[in-house]
Amino acid sequence: MSQLALDRLHLAYENQATGASFLALSEVSFKVERGEFVTIVGPSGCGKSTLLMLIAALLKPTSGALSLNDRPISQPGSDRALVFQDFALLPWRTVLANVELGLELKGVPKDKRREAARRYVQMVGLRAFENSFPHQLSGGMRQRVGIARALSVEPEVLLMDEPFGALDAQIRQVMASELLRIWERDRKTILFVTHDIDEAVYLADRIIVMSASPGRIVKEIKVDFPRPRELAIRNTPEFTLYRKQIWDLLEEQIRNSGSWEQGDVEPAVAS
Ligand SMILES: Nc1ncnc2c1ncn2[C@@H]1O[C@H](COP(=O)(O)OP(=O)(O)OP(=O)(O)O)[C@@H](O)[C@H]1O
Ligand SMILES: [Mg+2]
Repeated sequence: MSQLALDRLHLAYENQATGASFLALSEVSFKVERGEFVTIVGPSGCGKSTLLMLIAALLKPTSGALSLNDRPISQPGSDRALVFQDFALLPWRTVLANVELGLELKGVPKDKRREAARRYVQMVGLRAFENSFPHQLSGGMRQRVGIARALSVEPEVLLMDEPFGALDAQIRQVMASELLRIWERDRKTILFVTHDIDEAVYLADRIIVMSASPGRIVKEIKVDFPRPRELAIRNTPEFTLYRKQIWDLLEEQIRNSGSWEQGDVEPAVAS
């Protein structure tokens, strides 16, 4: 049994004022196994964030079905945690108190909360900063607080929407390898959206490539590098082949969509 199953999802955004409808996702079906690390790439606007919001049940599909452990997904729950690019930390709370927030919302009692928050702050390597405030941290450290907060509620599935999008290229690579280290210890199921092809290959057991809007699944690519993975696998010929395969698929999507001329949707490739 797959842990997460999406079956022929369609999502149309309705504009209440004009009555117009915009199809963002079309016929999206895929499955994710427990403990799997799946990355999602696709042209800007193809519906990646929409897809994660459907799984988080912040949106309802226009048609189609989603299930977690064979039960239909119908409302938000702490079994799925969403991590955004902008971290969403509360500036007036310390690192520890920010991590505790998710547990508070889940209704975990105070003493248990503190203990769990400490454990996850330590897991992401921020023990020395547990009493610092977000403005005292670097972007990468703030992102780790966001990850600790998401992990602390012990979700079954972690949904990550371009979590490293705001970081510069080098920090980004370090964060990706740190995320793998945490994941190898914790083995939560992860769905990770990124614009960065190298990041998608480096992290994934499997890459889902989406079409230009309306988003469909174009291809699923299994990534066969053994784990644990070193950052240096990016310099291997095998990695280059994966990179090229995805680049070609995305380029085709972008050209077909006609948005190429606008010049704002060129796929990002880390050097
Ligand atoms: N609330 C909304 N109402 C109407 N249309 C929307 C709404 N949210 C998103 N869309 C449209 O749906 C499509 C998919 O948006 P979405 O944010 O899921 O794309 P994305 O793949 O995450 O893009 P990006 O890579 O730029 O983050 C886009 O064309 C967007 O303009
Ligand atoms: Mg998005």
